[in-house]
Amino acid sequence: MPGILLGDVFPNFEADTTIGRIKFHDFLGNSWGILFSHPRDFTPVCTTELACAAKISDEFKKRGVKMIALSIDSVEDHRNWSKDVMAFNDQTESPLPFPIIADDKRELSVQLGMLDPDEKDKDGMPLTARCVFVIGPDKKLKLSILYPATTGRNFDELLRVIDSLQLTAQKKVATPVDWKPGDKVMVIPSLSEAEAGALFPNGVTTKEVPSGKKYLRYTQI
Ligand code: BEZ
Repeated sequence: MPGILLGDVFPNFEADTTIGRIKFHDFLGNSWGILFSHPRDFTPVCTTELACAAKISDEFKKRGVKMIALSIDSVEDHRNWSKDVMAFNDQTESPLPFPIIADDKRELSVQLGMLDPDEKDKDGMPLTARCVFVIGPDKKLKLSILYPATTGRNFDELLRVIDSLQLTAQKKVATPVDWKPGDKVMVIPSLSEAEAGALFPNGVTTKEVPSGKKYLRYTQI
């Protein structure tokens, strides 16, 4: 079954894009990366998504994350549609601030398991689903999300998960439900009490639970 799993080295594919031909690892350099696919150019939900991604692209830049989109349309379609996307944001003078990969032969979409079997074009060929891959500076897959064509994504949530991924790559913590930067984080279960005490100078608080087990450990980073 095609696809890519957490921890896999992301394929160093070559592709045509709106900024020319790229080799993916060279495109990423030493940065984090986010690759997000969409079903088709000149479609409504995709337009709202890419417009949102463009609007908050500085937030990805701040976090050192290179953005790249993908669909099964051609470079020419991508370039023309990009103008609509920026017009949707009332920014007709600005270019789309990230490239789009042209996967018109669907080779990459098959390799990465990105096709949505329920959404077909007029010739009965499957369209790309709304996939998100976040890739670390080590070129390994850190997160993947897969939405069907009919459900648009939340790009603020993508920034939130990137904040979590970047924090938890550095510190031995995990982020709880609905966490956002500045909130308390949780000490990972594999750390002993002594190790946690040494690692977290702001202290560790433990929530008591009926089992008596001390696994709900919080700290402030
Ligand atoms: C859209 O982007 O609006 C869309 C694309 C394919 C199927 C459904 C919706």
